[in-house]
Amino acid sequence: MSTNKGVFKKITTQKLREMKANGEKISMLTAYDYSMATILDRAGIDVLLVGDSASNVMAGNDTTLPITLEHMIWHAQGVVKGVDRALVVVDVPFGSYQGNSSEALRSCIRIMKESGAHAVKMEGGIEIRESIERVIKAGIPVMGHLGLTPQSIYKFGTYTVRAQEEEEAEKLASDAILLQDLGCFSIVLEKIPALLGKQVAASLNIPLIGIGAGPYVDGQVLVMHDLLGITQNFKPRFLRHYADLNGIITGAVENYISDIKSGNFPNADESY
Ligand code: KIV
Repeated sequence: MSTNKGVFKKITTQKLREMKANGEKISMLTAYDYSMATILDRAGIDVLLVGDSASNVMAGNDTTLPITLEHMIWHAQGVVKGVDRALVVVDVPFGSYQGNSSEALRSCIRIMKESGAHAVKMEGGIEIRESIERVIKAGIPVMGHLGLTPQSIYKFGTYTVRAQEEEEAEKLASDAILLQDLGCFSIVLEKIPALLGKQVAASLNIPLIGIGAGPYVDGQVLVMHDLLGITQNFKPRFLRHYADLNGIITGAVENYISDIKSGNFPNADESY
């Protein structure tokens, strides 16, 4: 098997900042296992997020709330093994950092030590300031996440676009500056008006990665299952399908079943 080891320079948090400074857009996708991480890394993705969206697309839950720290570490271990070039960021799951900064530090240290990932991501602004500060002080790179923060879905009550009202938009802009001042290396902005994304991206030196945040931010992230058309009945405006893997997989499996039933598989060449 060929490998990219040594051929590509690894993506670092510093490199992402340089990309923003040079106007080079950053590509980011979620990944949850070794095999897909290998494919995405070889395709040249810059950042792989071991998202807590694993709770939805891997475990079939309605929200990201049920996934545990142990589950996240397990997914991250596989992704890290599949990657030669991309920066691997791991979501710190609900319930493992909101309590206090000691809990946050303990959880992030476990993620870094046990998975070998390169950075963590936490949802929220000023509310989790102490945790972010403490984790960064320990030498762990932190990516922020503002706008629609799915771990707080029961507080919002809906997955609709965030920060459309002035008060919420102002809080988001000031949270973004706070996260930069605390030392976050990047921030995900989820489901906010494009012009707010533009304004916030222009006010920061660190890269902003958007999901439903319009074209003016410094990079884009999507959930891999959505981009590849594996998930069904999820068609938010910000999503572009780049493949119909659901259809391709269904067709392949139908052919396999049909070949078994007809006695066409295995043939003589496929037998010992
Ligand atoms: O968990 C996830 O997939 C995420 C992305 C939506 C940014 O946080």
